[in-house]
Amino acid sequence: NKNWILMVTAQTPTNIAVIKYWGKRDETLILPINDSISVTLDPEHLCTTTTVAVSPSFESDKMWLNGKEISLAGGRYQSCLREIRSRANDVEDEEKGISIKKQDWDKLHVHIASFNNFPTAAGLASSAAGFACLVYSLAKLMNVKEEQGKLSAIARQGSGSACRSLFGGFVKWIMGNEANGSDSMAVQLASETHWDDLVIIIAVVSSRQKETSSTSGMRESVDTSPLLHYRSKEVVPKRILQMEEAIKTRDFPSFAKLTCTDSNQFHAVCLDTSPPIFYMNDTSHRIISYMEKWNRSQGTPQVAYTFDAGPNAVLIAPNRKVATLLLQRLLFYFPPSADTDLSSFVIGDKSLLK
Ligand code: PMV
Repeated sequence: NKNWILMVTAQTPTNIAVIKYWGKRDETLILPINDSISVTLDPEHLCTTTTVAVSPSFESDKMWLNGKEISLAGGRYQSCLREIRSRANDVEDEEKGISIKKQDWDKLHVHIASFNNFPTAAGLASSAAGFACLVYSLAKLMNVKEEQGKLSAIARQGSGSACRSLFGGFVKWIMGNEANGSDSMAVQLASETHWDDLVIIIAVVSSRQKETSSTSGMRESVDTSPLLHYRSKEVVPKRILQMEEAIKTRDFPSFAKLTCTDSNQFHAVCLDTSPPIFYMNDTSHRIISYMEKWNRSQGTPQVAYTFDAGPNAVLIAPNRKVATLLLQRLLFYFPPSADTDLSSFVIGDKSLLK
């Protein structure tokens, strides 16, 4: 009987780095040149929903992203599929009368449908949620029994930042030392309830696709930026320890200072790259100036800002009261226009991987 189909759907939120990952020491395995720390968002707002299906009637592996078929030929998809398949186990579904043996998985093909509820490749870490969700749902479908950390090392081979989306709350991606990448994986630093007063607001400055992909940007920075090498050796190791401490003690002023400084250094590395890479635009720069003025006028940081490989601002407020004030001010100084649209997202305590 070739008519059966077995499906699994999963939802994974994206994550925002507060200590950035920028630069690979191995491009195929996706091994970074420094540790990084991120916060995983509430799954309601910025997430990927992926359905994976298997059926003997499927003739090849196929994938659709936001309804459009995309090629799975790239090495990153192949790495994730291969790693998950090699760990597959027997699957029994008595209700449907389906029995798949471990060794059958090599002959069966999967269909994957993935949707982002936010702009793809606009610097909102769509690949992070995407690959984390792909690996998680395939692992469920194929009854893979690895623990979350091992799954994160597989998601890493799809997109580096994806490894951090396998956990909720605050997450560290440990760069690891092994040449085969076996110890380059994510660990949870604090659960999603540890610091749930924090409110994250994403100001969507532009939903246009970025011009320089993070892959080619990183490669150019590794090849040409002396600042990047200084950063990864001399700056990040200390900052990681300070950030872990700030998170542990819920020290917002330290958290904010480290987050903003690290974002600014990442964008300085981009400028130090030859040719220079510009991810932020005039609106991003105006938002930074405004936040700096606000923080200085209060004597102690009220809000943190951070920007990934795109112009959108991620703003972090210590609580709802400050977040409300922040939104009012943002809307006043940066009114929504044809290319600016402010959306707010809150970190919740919902289960992160449904
Ligand atoms: O994992 P990638 O290739 O999408 O790179 C992510 C790079 C940054 O978002 C800029 C930083 C980070 O740590 O997420």
